[in-house]
Amino acid sequence: MKLLTIMSWVLVTNADVTRIDTVCNGPVINDVLYTEEILLSGLDRPYFLSTDYTTNTVYFSYSIYSNDTAFKSVKIDLNTKQLTYINDVKNGFSHCVSANGDVFIGGRDGIYKYDKVNNIAKIYTAKGVNVWTVFCKDDLYYSDSTNVYKVVDGKPSKFIEASKVKFLTIDNDDNIFYGNVSGLFRKKKDSKDIVFYKDTNAITLDGLATDLNGVVYVAATDGIYVVNKLKNDLKIYFKTTNDIFGVTFDVENNMIYSDELAVYKLRPTKYDECN
Ligand SMILES: *[C@@H]1O[C@H](CO)[C@@H](O)[C@H](O)[C@H]1NC(C)=O
Ligand SMILES: *[C@@H]1O[C@H](CO)[C@@H](O)[C@H](O)[C@H]1NC(C)=O
Repeated sequence: MKLLTIMSWVLVTNADVTRIDTVCNGPVINDVLYTEEILLSGLDRPYFLSTDYTTNTVYFSYSIYSNDTAFKSVKIDLNTKQLTYINDVKNGFSHCVSANGDVFIGGRDGIYKYDKVNNIAKIYTAKGVNVWTVFCKDDLYYSDSTNVYKVVDGKPSKFIEASKVKFLTIDNDDNIFYGNVSGLFRKKKDSKDIVFYKDTNAITLDGLATDLNGVVYVAATDGIYVVNKLKNDLKIYFKTTNDIFGVTFDVENNMIYSDELAVYKLRPTKYDECN
C-alpha cells in the first residue's frame, strides 16, 4: 500500500507540467500522498487562521493595504465555501474560537466578541489596546506589545510577563507554546519553568496551532513543522517554497493553511485518485 502510494507519486511528479487539477499535487507526509485543495484565493496574505469547530468555519485576516498597515477579518464556511466579511472590527487581526463556539477578534483597539448569526462585533475587553494575538481555551488569552494576559469574566490579568508574544497555543496537557522574536518556547500553565525550542534564526514563525489530537504545529517561512514534546524539538512536517502564513484544522482534523496567495486544505489523497 505504501509502496503503491510512493510509486504513483513518482509518476505524478514526472507528469508535473501537464497537471491541471488540484488532485495529487500535495506533499508526501509519512509515506502518504496528500492533495492540496484551494479553499479560497484572491485575498492578500491570509493570516491568523482559527477554526470554529461548532460550525466548521475558519476565521482569518488579510492585508488590505500593500503597505501592510491594515487588516480585515473574514470567515469562510468550510461546508459551503461561503466567505463573509466582518466589518465591525477596526483592523481585525487575530482570531480565536472557544470550544462552545464563542468567537473573539483582536484588533488595533481591543478585543471584540463576534455575533456570528447577525455578523456584528462588539468590544469585549482590552479596550483601546493594540492586541497582538488572541487565543481561546478554557479562558481567553491575549498579548499586547509587552505581556500575555488571561481574561476571566471579562477581566484581564497578567499571565506571561515581558514576553512580547506574537503567537500562542495551548495543547491538551496544558503546555503553553508561544513565539516571539526570540524564538519558540513552552511553559506549563502553573509553572515558571520555560523550555526553549527554536530560535528565530533557525526558523521564522508565522503561526501556531494545536490539532484535535493535541499535536502542536508551527507555520514558518519554509513550511510547516510539528512539535516533538519528548525531545523538546521541532521537525519539518512538510516543506514549501512559499511562506506559510497560518495553520489550523477542520472538524475532521484535516490541516488548513495559508500562504500569501490562498487558503488550502490538505487531505490524504484517495485510493486510485492519482492513476
Ligand atoms: C502607504 O504609505 C504611505 C506613507 O506612509 C502613504 O502615503 C500611502 O497612502 C499608503 N498607501 C496605502 C495604499 O495605504
Ligand atoms: C521571548 O520569550 C522569552 C521566554 O518567555 C523571553 O525570555 C524573551 O525575553 C522574550 N523575547 C522578547 C523580545 O521579549
